[in-house]
Amino acid sequence: MLLHHCTWPEVEAHLKRSTGIIVPIGSTEQHGPNGLLGTDALCAEVVARGVGEAVDALVAPCVAVGMAQHHLGFPGTMTLRPATLIAVVRDMVLSLARHGFERFYFVNGHGGNIATVTAAFSEVYADLSLARDGRAQRGVRCRLKNWWDGPAIKALSGELFGAAEGSHATPSEVSLTQFAFPETIKRAAMTPDIAPKGPIYDALDYRRRFADGRIGSNPALASPEAGKRLYEAAVAEVAEDYRQFLAED
Ligand code: NI
Repeated sequence: MLLHHCTWPEVEAHLKRSTGIIVPIGSTEQHGPNGLLGTDALCAEVVARGVGEAVDALVAPCVAVGMAQHHLGFPGTMTLRPATLIAVVRDMVLSLARHGFERFYFVNGHGGNIATVTAAFSEVYADLSLARDGRAQRGVRCRLKNWWDGPAIKALSGELFGAAEGSHATPSEVSLTQFAFPETIKRAAMTPDIAPKGPIYDALDYRRRFADGRIGSNPALASPEAGKRLYEAAVAEVAEDYRQFLAED
């Protein structure tokens, strides 16, 4: 159930059943010659919605712009500074905690968000720990789950794409968007087949190292059929992780 498709009495009733909520978080950034700018946000949202249906959880609106400064050398990319993203995540969590939500499960679509979102969780805990009015008694817990890096999904990505999976503009994430949004499928020539690898610094350096935006990947191998398998595996794996998170002592 999508939070933004609910009325407030529906949310109030849901809170009596569960205090967990799923928050998809991604990025709006270049994804190579055939990947959509929204790939990370779309993947996070699609997986989060699937998990929400599987476990009867509310799914919050997607945080669709993330920490992507290194992709700004490519048109269309948007970023939040780390400090801004920390503030966004913190305010979203504290807004929902005010209503009684306690377990915040972020389904992440972008590796570049991990450090910043983890820092945002520390800010939330600091708010609660420093409060003197009893809010600290609340059992607020936050977890970040990358949809692509559980053992089952990694095994499937390896089986499907092997060394062509790479780390940015991967055939797995492009496949997932092709499955979810077949009307958006793009074709593009890419040379070499598998893109170079290397470190990430700022936007100018990134574009110099990775001319077409990819890192270590060959997303020309992407297909909606692969995307369907990845979707089903990711929803199953992430749903199980969500159940464990809610059941945690
Ligand atoms: Ni991505």
